[in-house]
Amino acid sequence: MTNAQIIKVAVHGAAGRVGREVLRAVDAAPDMTLVAAIDRIPQNELEALPVSVPYYTDARDGYMAAQADVVVDFSVSAASFPMIPLALAAGTRPVIGTTGFTEDQIAYLDAQCQEHHLGGLLAPNFTIGAVLLGTLAAMAAPYFDYVDIYEEHHEMKVDAPSGTAIGIAKSIHDAHPEAFEHNDPTREPLPGTRGGNYNGMSIHSSRMPGRMAHHQVTFGGPGQTLTLRHDTNNRECYMPGVLLAVRKVMGLQGLTVGLDKLMGL
Ligand SMILES: NC(=O)c1ccc[n+]([C@@H]2O[C@H](COP(=O)([O-])OP(=O)(O)OC[C@H]3O[C@@H](n4cnc5c(N)ncnc54)[C@H](O)[C@@H]3O)[C@@H](O)[C@H]2O)c1
Repeated sequence: MTNAQIIKVAVHGAAGRVGREVLRAVDAAPDMTLVAAIDRIPQNELEALPVSVPYYTDARDGYMAAQADVVVDFSVSAASFPMIPLALAAGTRPVIGTTGFTEDQIAYLDAQCQEHHLGGLLAPNFTIGAVLLGTLAAMAAPYFDYVDIYEEHHEMKVDAPSGTAIGIAKSIHDAHPEAFEHNDPTREPLPGTRGGNYNGMSIHSSRMPGRMAHHQVTFGGPGQTLTLRHDTNNRECYMPGVLLAVRKVMGLQGLTVGLDKLMGL
């Protein structure tokens, strides 16, 4: 592999839980080289990073010095929104995992990519298996009358149901626009036991320690059920999707939203 084919990668939010995994994954990728780690925390206040890489607390300094081809961002939306135009101005394409952007902000980031004639990718979920679960569920949806979605997460999660469960429900609804059949109990000694109801789909959320993120879709029809399930156990789960995005963003124009677009789904 020549140096011209090696992708120079910066990581924004590098001191965070996912950022540290990205540092490890990029460092181990044979077609990438790590050129900058960027985070707001001063380096002398950090638990040591897992790899050796030039470290910056100022994103602009990092981009000017590193001349990265791509920046992978897992930080907070208030930090990454102003950071992305700085990256683009330095010729650096954003791969964004940070969540919490508004539709208007996403449109602005797309306009910024277009203005700089560069590609960018924003993916609310970098887990390839979870993206496939949504696609496979949508394939099955037209053939069944009943469906339940079960999602299980750790006890610290603040929202329920998960954004991924809602995304899967929307994919199923697009493929099966009429409401699913739904059993509504005539007697309910404990209210809420049937879960949330999204167009006839029951969505159930469980929270407890010992789990990370788990999604299951079970379809029901006469004499049969079909269950599709995806489990994640640690933050390495995002890395195949992140590395795929780093490679593919080099050939994109404008902001692409969703990993599924890069997977040909
Ligand atoms: N798209 C996905 O698949 C996916 C998966 C996991 C997490 N996330 C999202 O990624 C983000 C990070 O998650 P995490 O668990 O790693 O969080 P974290 O809190 O562990 O890490 C965030 C990092 O961003 C840094 N940061 C905050 N403000 C900054 C600023 N102004 N400039 C530079 N760095 C700054 C923090 O210091 C921290 O090191 C969240 O938005 C989370 O929802 C997305």
